[in-house]
Amino acid sequence: MTKTKTYAPSEDFVAKAHIDAAKYEEMYAASVENPEAFWTEHAKRIDWIEPFKTVKNVSFAHPDVSIKWFEEGQLNVSVNCIDRHLETRGDQTAIIWEPDNPDDEALHITYRELHEKVCRMANVLLSQGIMRGDRVVIYLPMIPEAAYAMLACARIGAIHSIVFAGFSPDALANRINDSGAKAVITADTAPRGGKRTALKSNTDAALLHCSDKVRCLVVKHTGDQTTWIDDRDVDVKAMMQQVGPDCPPRPMGAEDPLFVLYTSGSTGKPKGVVHSSGGYLVWAAMTHEYVFDYHEGDIYWCAADVGWVTGHSYIVYGPLANGATTLMFEGVPTYPDASRFWQTIEKHKVNQFYTAPTALRALMGQGNDFVTKSDLSSLKVLGTVGEPINPEAWNWYNDIVGKGNCPIVDTWWQTETGGHLLTPLPGAIATKPGSATLPFFGVQPVILDPQTGEEITTNPAEGVLCMKDSWPGQMRTVYGDHERFVKTYFSDYKGYYFSGDGCRRDEDGYYWITGRVDDVINVSGHRMGTAEVESALVAHAKVSEAAVVGYPHEVKGQGIYCYVTLMNGQEPSEDLRKELRDWVRKEIGPIASPDLIQWAPGLPKTRSGKIMRRILRKIAENDYGALGDTSTLAEPAVVDDLIENRMNRS
Ligand code: WTA
Repeated sequence: MTKTKTYAPSEDFVAKAHIDAAKYEEMYAASVENPEAFWTEHAKRIDWIEPFKTVKNVSFAHPDVSIKWFEEGQLNVSVNCIDRHLETRGDQTAIIWEPDNPDDEALHITYRELHEKVCRMANVLLSQGIMRGDRVVIYLPMIPEAAYAMLACARIGAIHSIVFAGFSPDALANRINDSGAKAVITADTAPRGGKRTALKSNTDAALLHCSDKVRCLVVKHTGDQTTWIDDRDVDVKAMMQQVGPDCPPRPMGAEDPLFVLYTSGSTGKPKGVVHSSGGYLVWAAMTHEYVFDYHEGDIYWCAADVGWVTGHSYIVYGPLANGATTLMFEGVPTYPDASRFWQTIEKHKVNQFYTAPTALRALMGQGNDFVTKSDLSSLKVLGTVGEPINPEAWNWYNDIVGKGNCPIVDTWWQTETGGHLLTPLPGAIATKPGSATLPFFGVQPVILDPQTGEEITTNPAEGVLCMKDSWPGQMRTVYGDHERFVKTYFSDYKGYYFSGDGCRRDEDGYYWITGRVDDVINVSGHRMGTAEVESALVAHAKVSEAAVVGYPHEVKGQGIYCYVTLMNGQEPSEDLRKELRDWVRKEIGPIASPDLIQWAPGLPKTRSGKIMRRILRKIAENDYGALGDTSTLAEPAVVDDLIENRMNRS
């Protein structure tokens, strides 16, 4: 095997970095050898109202999994993200807001202004009867009010649950109902890439399927006309002017939930991932500082959406807990043209930039002029997240965007992990294109043999990626269903947290994620359960059966490949393909839009009726020469037909 090229940070970078190689070694060893002492020290980055006594109280033992950190501690997350900075940096910009249209004015919101807005928003919530422990769904575009709403919930102890603005009314209704939310906060319409999404009318449609007690708080963002239901809808901005500018923060237990975020799994409906207040904030803040090597005064930009976990931890909670200036971007990378990211970096002199490989692949295809015409000399660190990055995209990011001067941090983590687990620290760990490198402090990754469940301790190794012990930012439970939590993450490999990812560890101990080993796919960095798309398809009157798999897609990473069996008497047609595509968009949202739909007279099944997805995956990958063992198929001829009519013949 040819040895992969490694990229070490420059001496200059190392000299200024928070953590160098020796410090990483020393801190990592301390973090796993004596976690109590390590976390007692590092939890000090948070202001506690009441100190904790127990650092860690964790059991991964099936079936009594229980995860608690900093148990007796009390804190308020919004105070940590705002109030404690007022004295020293009240006039510093907390949030730079860059609107969809670059000709519109960007906003610079100081910590003092943030304090007032969040207090007012919190008072609006209180005026609507929202109390500690109540759930509030946030269905907002990338506008400052999204951050105000999150922090306002944190201030009064309400639990927010953000639903990505690209989700459909049905998906929104499911999340409102599953979380038993008392209110939903939305906006009139959301501009994105010059187009507008009708969030309020989506919310109206969703609320038809929810309790009529759910309040609807509307941020009038564009001023577009919407319907209005007088005794249900509240004009948030008007109301914020009427309530007071101060709101006392509520002391919360370290283990009180801060938020629920729904994410896709391999089976059934999306599950509500529950994150804590104390451990989560320690984790988000510490990883933000060290992984991006954030220094006082830096301008930091994470180009994700607050609807995903990346936006939670690395647009809002981590950066603000660190007193950073965080940029919030309403638009898309290709509007008005493919220079938007780079022009925005130039405009705001961004120092750390964090995005998904899918965006890089899309921009790479547009040519380098869009990048090189912008002054990117402010950049110090570049990050990626959400999916494996292919070496071509990595090299392009490194050479063209970073001009070879910016370490790239390829951060591996999940909604469940709260923050980064495997990642380079830019001044400490030499990188290899495509590898998430080494564990963050306190993280103990192991590679297990998927068959035996045994740890593979030698290098190189390949298997499933698990964690041997807890870290403060770990999810605590599935909302309302602890049993599902235990079953999903702790029952296949007893005594470990199972990530669902396959992984390789090379001779240097570096980790390389090979992709999901379950029926979750990663489309443009968005995580999706194939089961969700299947159930949307079979809910259509003309569909009898459906199986959905991922296939390699040049820009999206993975595309959505659907095998559809129609009801008797239904004729396949291009119109019907379009109808089904639109149907899935309506049921789940545009991000779930099928790329390829193949008409399947039958699906390959075992004699006991189980669909053999392995075979369907191979056909979708155009790799039908290697179907493996097909001897258990009930009707082998089905496979020949599927191969004959496959869609992905590149
Ligand atoms: C994948 C996003 C390779 C992985 C923060 C994981 C990655 C899933 C990387 C979680 C990376 C995330 N390299 N794969 N750097 N980061 N993934 O919950 O399969 O939306 O399990 O969290 O994305 O997706 P989620």
